[in-house]
Amino acid sequence: MTTTIDSFAGEDILSVNQFDRASLNAIFGIAHEMRVLVERFGGAELLQGKILANLFYEPSTRTSSSFTAAMQRLGGQVIPINNVQYSSVSKGESLPDTIRTLESYADVIVIRHPEVGAAATAAYYAEKPVINAGDGVGEHPTQALLDLFTVQEELEQIDGLTVVMVGDLRYGRTVHSLTKLLLNYNVSFVFVSPDILRLPADVLEAVQTSGHSYSQVEDLHSVIGEADVLYMTRVQRERFTDLAEYDRVKDFFIADKALMAQAKEKMIVMHPLPRVGEISYALDDDPRAAYFRQMRNGMYIRMALLAALLGKA
Ligand code: ASP
Ligand code: CP
Repeated sequence: MTTTIDSFAGEDILSVNQFDRASLNAIFGIAHEMRVLVERFGGAELLQGKILANLFYEPSTRTSSSFTAAMQRLGGQVIPINNVQYSSVSKGESLPDTIRTLESYADVIVIRHPEVGAAATAAYYAEKPVINAGDGVGEHPTQALLDLFTVQEELEQIDGLTVVMVGDLRYGRTVHSLTKLLLNYNVSFVFVSPDILRLPADVLEAVQTSGHSYSQVEDLHSVIGEADVLYMTRVQRERFTDLAEYDRVKDFFIADKALMAQAKEKMIVMHPLPRVGEISYALDDDPRAAYFRQMRNGMYIRMALLAALLGKA
């Protein structure tokens, strides 16, 4: 367990299990300063001379471009491999060899990969820090950090909240990471999903053994009034082998004006994005809709993490 910001220097970020309240507070403090820095000056030269390799085996808009922007706003540079199809991966190069290659040019590697554990494998072969930007249906730790930072910034506290997670809790890696990270706080969970998309057993077990109160339901309308945080997710089409099953569950939950009329006045709606129908565009003007602010927070969190990993926090 890493508890101070200094102890992140040279480390990998593979799972949210690496964080505790003290380290989260430290990262959120730096992320807050990064926001002020960007708003005032656009950035700084903190990471001048440093290079990040962005290695994406799966599609990304936010994670990839916010890591790029984070590195560049801190004066560093980026090797973008956003489409491995045009790299030597398509010639059959293995993950270890790709990682050995990139770490000989870069100071830190960000990797997104369809297999659970791929970031850990990359970290095993790399001497430089590796950041997990999503490993299949496993984890997406930097997303959970920006999600939690958003809750803190928007609601000014995390303890005492009721967090309602909705949609694809089975395949949604952001849900897995955020749920585990929230176990550091005194929160209650409501998990809303169709039967076939419930939380994986290991994540549910972590909730159960921690003693947090939780429920699993299939009806969003019956629980919306309890939500301080409504965390909507996309049904992860790319994880289904049977697309008829995907079609059956994809539109189960839609946050729209009618739903929000039953929600508290002080609460927030979050989504890791991209959305593909589960949040009505009509909600975008609702002050409780925090998903675009949440997305912007990603850059500040990633600036903080890069500074910490590269020993400049
Ligand atoms: N962008 C997030 C992820 O890569 C969520 C999603 O794609 O639905 O996990
Ligand atoms: N939230 C998220 O990871 O977005 P991208 O898939 O666009 O990177």
